[in-house]
Amino acid sequence: MAIKFGRPLERVRSVPAEAEAPATPLDLAVRPRRNRRAEWSRRMVREHVLSTDDLIWPLFVVDGTDVRTPVASMPDVERLSVNQAVRAAERAAKLNIPCLALFPYTDPSKRDNDGTEALNADNLVCRAVRAIKKEVPDIGVLCDVALDPYTSHGHDGLLHDGVILNDETVTVLVRQAVIQAEAGCDIIAPSDMMDGRVGAIRSGLDQKGFGDVQIMAYAAKYASAFYGPFRDAVGSSATLTGDKRTYQMDPANTDEALREVELDIAEGADMVMVKPGLPYLDVLARVKATFGMPTFAYQVSGEYAMIMAAAKNGWLDGDKAMTESLVAFKRAGADGVLTYFAARIAEKLKKGGA
Ligand code: PBG
Repeated sequence: MAIKFGRPLERVRSVPAEAEAPATPLDLAVRPRRNRRAEWSRRMVREHVLSTDDLIWPLFVVDGTDVRTPVASMPDVERLSVNQAVRAAERAAKLNIPCLALFPYTDPSKRDNDGTEALNADNLVCRAVRAIKKEVPDIGVLCDVALDPYTSHGHDGLLHDGVILNDETVTVLVRQAVIQAEAGCDIIAPSDMMDGRVGAIRSGLDQKGFGDVQIMAYAAKYASAFYGPFRDAVGSSATLTGDKRTYQMDPANTDEALREVELDIAEGADMVMVKPGLPYLDVLARVKATFGMPTFAYQVSGEYAMIMAAAKNGWLDGDKAMTESLVAFKRAGADGVLTYFAARIAEKLKKGGA
């Protein structure tokens, strides 16, 4: 059917600038603005809706009691001692946020070349998991599997003679995953990008009786500049030697992302993730459309920092930018988002404001 779009543009342009509004309305049958006229109508035709069910809230944990230390590059984000992380978990549960992601700031004295603290069943993240699952049993807890919070060089894997060793690292990651599962972690999230780690972790968990522990694979994780503030928060930016480009993906690639995701699904991932978020919405959309898996986006620390920094300067409306950025993930096909805004957007959604 031919759609009548009205008179040719020249006729419209020919109206002199100083003339009054054209007396005759444009002859338009199709007027997209009709549906946008009122708030009730905009709500009615809205295609994508963000809900608290879509949120995973990353928290940074630190040693001590009643400690809350600010992270300079992430305004309003603090490292929390375990008892404070429990308070945050209670707040999240009240806000109906389904899941937390825990990241430890490991004391530098406990970091070494091989990240052995990762295998200490009583390490900070394991203590945090146990405390949260005890006090707030109905909230999901996700833990990263990677060695970077524990290595003196800040890499996610074992580093020998300047090379990250894949298979040796995977052996350690399997043990790390089992230790986290023993602490009560619900979702294991390998963020290291070693080849074959999802399959190895799956069978390691199954062998130890953790067949119900889920795996959310950081399936398409890029070597990104947007992780900078996170590395400040976990204390690895000062010590990181070199970069992570031999294991994290080249930002120029998308077909490769599909191959990575396909492998992780074949190896047993229950959910997949694309990371970072906003700069990679095209990847997210392709992953969701291709595999139809539960697909998550990580709105990473640098994305958070950009919005917060601009808002603090009065350069944009932080609240609106937060909401718009989060609904963009839904539009691109995400089933959920890991975001440092989780509690803030959940408060807003609760008030009916987003
Ligand atoms: C560790 C890890 C990183 C992030 C999550 N897990 C940093 C990195 O890979 O260097 C980044 C999260 C963020 O920036 O918010 N493997």
